[in-house]
Amino acid sequence: MRGVAGCFRVKAPSNIALIKYMGKKDSASNLPENGSISMTLEELCTYAEIQVDLRDEDGAGAWVDEAPADAPRGVRAPGLGAAGIEKILSHLGRVRGASPDLLATFGLEPSPFASGRGGFTLRSANTFPQASGIASSASSFAAVTLAMAWACAASPSDFREVYMENVEFRRALAGISRRGSGSSCRSFEGPWVGWDGDRTLALEANLPELRHLVLVVSERAKRVSSSQAHLRIKSSPLWKGRVERAETRKATLTEALRAGDLRAVARLAWSETWEMHGLFHTAEPPFTYWEPATVELLQWFSGIMEDDVEGGDLPIVTLDAGPNPHLICPASRVEGWKARIGEKFGGIRILEDRPGAGARLISATSKDRE
Ligand code: PMV
Repeated sequence: MRGVAGCFRVKAPSNIALIKYMGKKDSASNLPENGSISMTLEELCTYAEIQVDLRDEDGAGAWVDEAPADAPRGVRAPGLGAAGIEKILSHLGRVRGASPDLLATFGLEPSPFASGRGGFTLRSANTFPQASGIASSASSFAAVTLAMAWACAASPSDFREVYMENVEFRRALAGISRRGSGSSCRSFEGPWVGWDGDRTLALEANLPELRHLVLVVSERAKRVSSSQAHLRIKSSPLWKGRVERAETRKATLTEALRAGDLRAVARLAWSETWEMHGLFHTAEPPFTYWEPATVELLQWFSGIMEDDVEGGDLPIVTLDAGPNPHLICPASRVEGWKARIGEKFGGIRILEDRPGAGARLISATSKDRE
């Protein structure tokens, strides 16, 4: 940024894991116990805007409870509590502090703001309702990390060029974002992304065009945060062997994606879902994210998996750390699934999305003077 003030707008999608990140090696840096694989989404996303002003007090940062100016209509600010605001602002301090070195590594010049001059305000908003039970930390942390890094570059257009052309730059940003929220590091590329240790990687997938549905059975806030879940699952007797099983399943899924074997993908996602929720249900003390309607849906899907009458057409069904099943299927089958679900569970709210390419820059503007 060359002027005294600037405004940086980005959007970043959520992602849905088929091999789950559950259990951390290190809570400070969010290094995972096991590798994971997710599909990046497109429309279920966060819009973020950072306004920088070099005339503000050095190092100042504030969160404003409003949607960014150019976010689509109906997109809402997430209504963060004090702890959430503190977590996101402290993460932005970390991104700002790391930016001079990061930008220099990729041949980009940092702005005076990157070195601590002036302050900023953050606005962000999600396309999915706060109460829809969709985890927003992946999209939120990816979006704010990207907006802050962009604000730290002396030349927004050079930043754009490197961001678009150099996937290693995206991955380096993903590594910083991971420190705010682990799963956010998989939202920087897509559609299929693997995450091992401190690295993310795009995975080859030879699948038909897909659609993604969230079956919203509950809009209540989580009873157990994912940070708590990462810790508590280690008290389960099923934790023993979990890392090895997840790694084996991850290797098999990588191969199934490459081979375009949707049926194998569906079976792996199904077992992984039960394993993660098995850990929750057998932790000391046990906990659950399920609602009565979750159980009904799981029972219905269990029958479909068991009968396996769909030929090559088993749906991919998974649950995040929440009560709402996610279904991924070929685009050609999505209307059929929506009709079947509507018939069986009339009135259930369904959010629809598709695979996406990851976090994106929208616009950067700068002002020389008031
Ligand atoms: O990024 P976190 O710490 O909120 O972890 C979330 C992990 C799961 O969403 C439950 C699974 C995953 O891999 O996304």
